[in-house]
Amino acid sequence: MLAGNTHPWLLALTAVIPTVYASRRGLTSECSPVSFDIVATAENAILSPSYDPSNETSIINFINAMARGEVNPVVGFQNISGSFVINGIYCKPTKKVKKKRNALQILVHGITYNSSMWGGYHFGDRYNWHAYANGEGYHTLAIDRLGHGLNSKALDPHNVIQPMLQVEIYKELIQSIRSNTAANSLRKRFSNIIWVGHSYGSQIALPLARLCPNLTSALILTGWSSTTNLSEVQKFNLASASTLYPSRFPGLDKGYLAMADEALRAKMFYYGAYDPAIPAFDFANQDIVTIGEFAANAGPFGIPPAAYNKPVMVITGVEDGVFCAQPGAAARECEELLEKTRTDMFPGVPGRKYEYFAPRNTGHDLTLHYSARETFRRAHGFLDKYF
Ligand SMILES: *[C@@H]1O[C@H](CO)[C@@H](O)[C@H](O)[C@H]1NC(C)=O
Ligand SMILES: *[C@@H]1O[C@H](CO)[C@@H](O)[C@H](O)[C@H]1NC(C)=O
Ligand SMILES: *[C@@H]1O[C@H](CO)[C@@H](O)[C@H](O)[C@H]1NC(C)=O
Ligand SMILES: *[C@@H]1O[C@H](CO)[C@@H](O)[C@H](O)[C@H]1NC(C)=O
Ligand SMILES: *[C@@H]1O[C@H](CO)[C@@H](O)[C@H](O)[C@H]1NC(C)=O
Repeated sequence: MLAGNTHPWLLALTAVIPTVYASRRGLTSECSPVSFDIVATAENAILSPSYDPSNETSIINFINAMARGEVNPVVGFQNISGSFVINGIYCKPTKKVKKKRNALQILVHGITYNSSMWGGYHFGDRYNWHAYANGEGYHTLAIDRLGHGLNSKALDPHNVIQPMLQVEIYKELIQSIRSNTAANSLRKRFSNIIWVGHSYGSQIALPLARLCPNLTSALILTGWSSTTNLSEVQKFNLASASTLYPSRFPGLDKGYLAMADEALRAKMFYYGAYDPAIPAFDFANQDIVTIGEFAANAGPFGIPPAAYNKPVMVITGVEDGVFCAQPGAAARECEELLEKTRTDMFPGVPGRKYEYFAPRNTGHDLTLHYSARETFRRAHGFLDKYF
């Protein structure tokens, strides 16, 4: 139940992943699919028995009640162990970069997305984090988080696909790359590992930084802050992925969820200046989120990584309604929340090593807005001071 991957399915899908991206210097990045076999154990949450895991309505009611603060979703903890396959896309730096950085950026997506969001889909290099980073001399590895993308959807979305197990899996993955053990499918040791998160992929960096303050060399956290507007979460308007997309997700456990309303999704994730074709593509091709990812955020997940002292940059769109200001608000409102994020979450990071940037006219999915290249430029300007 815990392990494994359906390999014919995996192979069929990896065949369609684009393997070259043109970089901003007009050179091409060399990219290839990779997969890691990881053994991990974590203390996951035991979810409240107040919902029926086989009943879609009961699941959705439970999540909405949780977002309103009406139920305590976690009733205890239990150890979950297994062997897990984590797929990703690895891209090498393009040639002719002066600085030898020996740095790998690990790109970690949010909920209802997968590793392909970092490549900007087919909308061009202005949205392609890999191409920009590879052009600046960084290696990039965009991973599919547990249960997302090419990873197995046979895992239990209630008890197994939860944040703390993910933290343990990514910890093992990074350790295998740092010490170049047999599990390192990149077959290359990196001394500098930079975690680049979006949304939930940023959130998950906190317990990792708390448990292993020396594992990463820097954090770039996008689409995130220490202030979450939970009233926005109800606008997710969730449904079981197998109900919404019966042909893409046939027979999936009902605890795998997706967003049911195209207009609400666009409103939550996009604002201001963006190509309207992107939210339409994004809705039709969205990935999943599990009930375990929503419900198990309490407890150890949110404790600040007080001992973390490496460089941290937070980049969040001014009009990101969940993590920054509301549409029409002054940029300063968002910037104040990003300043407060250092005090709340990173008391151990010296002031000069903490920076933030709030792109204007930009919602939650900042790398899929017209401001994307400014975000890439700011992030790499920050990293250039350290690597
Ligand atoms: C599913 O859950 C809803 C809400 O709790 C309930 O009204 C409904 O009767 C349940 N359906 C089944 C088949 O149990
Ligand atoms: C999980 O396993 C560890 C190590 O065996 C043990 O110390 C801990 O108490 C276990 N946690 C739970 C919730 O059972
Ligand atoms: C990953 O996300 C893209 C874009 O949303 C989607 O087209 C693709 O089907 C997803 N991959 C898998 C394996 O579900
Ligand atoms: C992290 O590295 C520093 C410097 O090498 C060391 O002093 C510290 O003990 C390490 N922290 C942990 C938690 O391993
Ligand atoms: C949270 O979002 C709602 C809209 O969903 C908004 O009315 C409210 O002002 C926001 N709260 C804060 C503190 O920004």
